[in-house]
Amino acid sequence: MQEPPHSSTATVEPAVDTVLEMRGISKSYPGVQALSGVSFDVRRGEVHALVGENGAGKSTLMKILAGAETKDTGEILLDGERAEIDSPQRAMDLGISIIYQEFNLVPYLSAAENIFLGREPRARIPGFVDFRTMHAEAQKLIDDLGVRLDIRLPVNRLSVAQQQMVEVAKATSRKARVIAMDEPSATLTEHELAHLFDLIRRLKEQGVAIIYISHRLEEIFSIADRVTVLRDGQVVGTRPVQELDRESVIRMMVGREIRDQIPKVAVQPGPVVLELRGVTRKGALEDISFQVRAGEVVGLAGLVGAGRTEVARVIFGADEMDSGEVLLEGKPLKVRGPRDAIDAGIGLVTEDRKAQGLILGMTIRENITLANLDAVCRLFFIRQGVERAVAAKFVEDLRIRTPGVEQRAQNLSGGNQQKVVLAKWLFTDSKVLIFDEPTRGIDVGSKVEIYQLMNRLAAEGKAILMISSELPEVLGMSDRIIVMHEGRVAGELSREEATQEKIMHLATGGQ
Ligand SMILES: Nc1ncnc2c1ncn2[C@@H]1O[C@H](COP(=O)(O)OP(=O)(O)OP(=O)(O)O)[C@@H](O)[C@H]1O
Ligand SMILES: [Mg+2]
Repeated sequence: MQEPPHSSTATVEPAVDTVLEMRGISKSYPGVQALSGVSFDVRRGEVHALVGENGAGKSTLMKILAGAETKDTGEILLDGERAEIDSPQRAMDLGISIIYQEFNLVPYLSAAENIFLGREPRARIPGFVDFRTMHAEAQKLIDDLGVRLDIRLPVNRLSVAQQQMVEVAKATSRKARVIAMDEPSATLTEHELAHLFDLIRRLKEQGVAIIYISHRLEEIFSIADRVTVLRDGQVVGTRPVQELDRESVIRMMVGREIRDQIPKVAVQPGPVVLELRGVTRKGALEDISFQVRAGEVVGLAGLVGAGRTEVARVIFGADEMDSGEVLLEGKPLKVRGPRDAIDAGIGLVTEDRKAQGLILGMTIRENITLANLDAVCRLFFIRQGVERAVAAKFVEDLRIRTPGVEQRAQNLSGGNQQKVVLAKWLFTDSKVLIFDEPTRGIDVGSKVEIYQLMNRLAAEGKAILMISSELPEVLGMSDRIIVMHEGRVAGELSREEATQEKIMHLATGGQ
């Protein structure tokens, strides 16, 4: 099914509507063949989805297109002409825009400045920026996206979803002929996703060629025209979306049958491990009370902004509460910060792996053992052999795709970085584990492995609090579900009575 790389170069006429053609692209890193002989094309007004497991090579292909990585072999044609894309600037000049998996904004500049970076409208006085025009144009771009945000604020004051929209505005402002989006939806709410899809449809009408990467297959089926599946750096196939269904895409991705199910194992709950009593933090949380027992998985559901991450932060000592208390095994928990929380036996797997979970310059081995150095130390010396063995076990269990445990975290694909964050907390002997969107950016095959790990932790008697926006995951893995709305507990549902409708009803303020 893999298209043979074209051997001749300049003489091959592309189909009339092909905007971008990548032929026989290969790329290797030390110990990793990230791409081998990948051919991929996008047509005018088409959404071409690129899917594959974590580490399959999707982001690498996009970085080559964007001039951010060099290719070893292969060629790129734009509207039938060979293009030498040797720098990000060159890619931009050629009309290629990429929205990266990890954002690329300058944190201290405003949204407007980021959108027009390097192309600021000039004032009449030489050397000065025409801020009025820039702000007006930035505002128009943002309005067109149907989002509300203050374009004068530095982007590090914006929510992740808003930063995403700034990236999209930046791409549309450049009048790109090819726009690639690398997991744009991972951080968006339903509402924002609907806006993004509207925007994509409008870009299609204008003839823009769009490359769309996502691990959420339902998105692929609602927006894509064609789908290309990558596995181990090679193209498995390219098909019109009509010829595919969920099962066939998964089979192409993982090369084997997997049961796309949630393998929940029932556990008899033990004593209460974690309890919140009337926890209040002004402006964020109001009178939050609930319990989590040993062996239980309690799901924390709600819309984005309902206060779920706030609950996690307060328990973890990252934020202070104004009143109320947190009890661990019946005793009031006094934590002055995350270090205390970790020492007391609480682990937090964060949704923002880059900022809170991972030290990118460190190796996989060092990251995994960081939160529990005691376990690998003797007389103040870190026993590297032990560390290596521990890390290697996790790499195998979680199927982290890497040439070895000495690889730096920054060289891993996005999903594999997320798995390292998980491993780090699994290695601590926490009594309570809080998972905040644990499978975000994780491919369908690996999700099942993460659920199985959660089962194992529950069976060991850990108390698990799982924040998730994916309702099938909440319904599938939780023994009980607490639904939040505007900083309060809106209701609690048992595993038996919970349905998507009941959760949404409570999450949107229904009684
Ligand atoms: N700078 C680098 N140095 C070494 N290896 C790298 C580097 N960048 C990527 N790789 C490796 O290349 C392979 C492909 O990675 P890539 O980021 O393209 O995957 P992906 O398909 O985007 O995965 P994900 O779904 O997790 O984002 C992975 O094995 C990754 O570890
Ligand atoms: Mg990626």
